[in-house]
Amino acid sequence: MATLERVKQSLQSEESEIGADSDIIPADAGVEDVCDEEIETVEEILTDVRPEKRGVIPALQQVQDEYGYLPKFAFELIAHHCEKSLADIYSTASFYSQFHLEPRGDYSIRVCTGTACHVAGADAVSDELQDELGVGLDEVTDDGKFTIEHVRCVGACGLAPVVTVDDDVHGPIEPDDAETIIEEYSERGE
Ligand code: FES
Repeated sequence: MATLERVKQSLQSEESEIGADSDIIPADAGVEDVCDEEIETVEEILTDVRPEKRGVIPALQQVQDEYGYLPKFAFELIAHHCEKSLADIYSTASFYSQFHLEPRGDYSIRVCTGTACHVAGADAVSDELQDELGVGLDEVTDDGKFTIEHVRCVGACGLAPVVTVDDDVHGPIEPDDAETIIEEYSERGE
């Protein structure tokens, strides 16, 4: 098994398996430069995760809790910790929709596109939110505050169409409500 020192050298090398030319992880999947502090942060997180197979998902979850997404340098550290290949870690992360491979805004706006919400006009709500914020789905606003994504049923069909902002549930939402929702969270700060 590679030592941590070798992993660090690999991460900071142009020949890193997760470098810009990698066909395993897209070049835009995360931060490009890795400093010792970031590596130590992830190492600290991983000390609480058991390195068996079941540890891969908790490891990904805990790193994402720290960064809001999965920076690509973390993949190699997780692979090292769990004794898995980089490709294994990446395929697990990309399989589950809960994991994000790119940075997210401070607030995640999720527009439910399940059947009840779709029928009740979720697409129009989503379009208005995107217009108001000037971003497409899964993009981060210029101020770093918001990301919009579509999700399946969030279990609040009686409120369709439903939008969640982090853990808050809003519904029923009209397209005209988009501006009010954005203002509410913009004023809160992070
Ligand atoms: S379909 Fe949107 S909450 Fe169920």
